Amino acid sequence: MAEDLAIRKGNKTENYQSIIPQIRALIEGEPDLIANLANIIGALKEQFNWFWVGFYLVKGEELVLGPFQGPVACTRIRKGRGVCGSSWEKAQTLIVPDVQAFAGHIACSSLSKSEIVVPIVRSGAVLGVLDVDSDQVDSFDETDKKFLEQITEFICFDV
Ligand code: SME
Repeated sequence: MAEDLAIRKGNKTENYQSIIPQIRALIEGEPDLIANLANIIGALKEQFNWFWVGFYLVKGEELVLGPFQGPVACTRIRKGRGVCGSSWEKAQTLIVPDVQAFAGHIACSSLSKSEIVVPIVRSGAVLGVLDVDSDQVDSFDETDKKFLEQITEFICFDV
């Protein structure tokens, strides 16, 4: 595995199309879930330089913080709470253009302005979420949803 990523500086679609095959190559053949989640986050941070990007994993009745890059974050989030807990409860991707307008948003940082949360769903059950925060409003759209959902689909959770 080559450790150096090629970082594309094109439009959003081009950037996802460039980084996704590299992410697949990074995690291919590696069975350790945490190692793979950590490398996925590292690659996404390098490509997009988002304010915060990370995984939360379902453990019992809570989401528990997993591999991430960015400022320190809330460790545990209950089902239905905040954007992450709502995405878990609905088993749906949530795009929040302005976090201040989302009732119940959990502000881990006052610098976070918009957010997208993508659930990791297997056989109808949510196993975790991929959470991305931006320090600008309205950063995420259907393009992010499409490609981030692709990423959550190819993570191997057979551990
Ligand atoms: N804002 C999230 C909490 C997680 S942090 O953004 C890292 C939420 O409302 O669920």
